[in-house]
Amino acid sequence: MKIKTVDFYYFSGTGNTLLVIKKMKEIFQKKGIKVNLNKIEKSEPNKINLTHTIGIAFPVAVLSTYPFVWNFIKNLPDANGTEIFMVDTLGGFSGGIVGPLREMVKKKGYTPIGAMEIQMPPNIFYIQDEESCKIKIEKGLKKAEEYAIELIHGKSKWGRIPALSDATYLFSMGALKLTGIDLHQKYFLFKVNEERCSRCGICVDLCPLGNIKMEEEKYPVHDLNCEYCLRCVSFCPKHAIPCKFNYNGKTYHAVKAREFLKDQ
Ligand SMILES: Cc1cc2nc3c(=O)[nH]c(=O)nc-3n(C[C@H](O)[C@H](O)[C@H](O)COP(=O)(O)O)c2cc1C
Ligand code: SF4
Ligand code: SF4
Repeated sequence: MKIKTVDFYYFSGTGNTLLVIKKMKEIFQKKGIKVNLNKIEKSEPNKINLTHTIGIAFPVAVLSTYPFVWNFIKNLPDANGTEIFMVDTLGGFSGGIVGPLREMVKKKGYTPIGAMEIQMPPNIFYIQDEESCKIKIEKGLKKAEEYAIELIHGKSKWGRIPALSDATYLFSMGALKLTGIDLHQKYFLFKVNEERCSRCGICVDLCPLGNIKMEEEKYPVHDLNCEYCLRCVSFCPKHAIPCKFNYNGKTYHAVKAREFLKDQ
């Protein structure tokens, strides 16, 4: 079926996924397709418009994606053939998404029309130098452009990736469950360095889960509901949120913080 309107539901921790969907939006719009961008963290799955084509976009985390993204997908309403596609961005390898997600949306009555995984610079562990990141982003956005063209011409695919994908998905679900328990949260708790912090409040506004609170005259404090998207760490203008995951304390973000502070 010819795509008329695409409603993207997306999450992007540090900007890679946002760059990808903005590129796809540009290509769709050039072909006269209307595109709406909706943040997953601000959207209710049961309110999506089933007469539009749905695009789900997110970063890979722990071989699949963040629990709140999975929750959004799992709570999508049943459909009667609504077309749906996915795109994720990743630093290296996923394995636990494409197959299981396809089955999930098919069971709900959607028609899966395309899936694409796009390599972008890693935002965790080893942050690459600026030039390498730039080259990776250029390649990634080229792939996003090609994918959008395939979708427009009905040439994209969302194949079933058997056994290994299901096993990786189950492994990922187990690992993600583990990251949610208090012990893990307490061990990896992000703690603001008060000597560096200017109390600007950006981290509080940026956290997609409302996991950071800042009381009057006090410094921001992280609660125990973190999903490790690294947004607060990466966008803090004072580098005041140290992260055990990142080598040498280096951080990465692909866009400016204000991109995430806009309404949509
Ligand atoms: C907690 C966490 C877990 C991640 N796990 C993976 C992974 O399993 N595989 C992978 O290839 N990249 C992984 N990454 C890297 C991101 O998927 C990648 O950099 C992505 O493009 C970030 O997108 P964003 O900027 O839209 O958040 C992980 C990043 C974070 C913060
Ligand atoms: S973003 Fe950084 S400087 Fe601003 S309040 Fe948060 S920790 Fe402090
Ligand atoms: S506390 Fe930081 S890393 Fe955790 S979910 Fe919020 S923004 Fe992401």
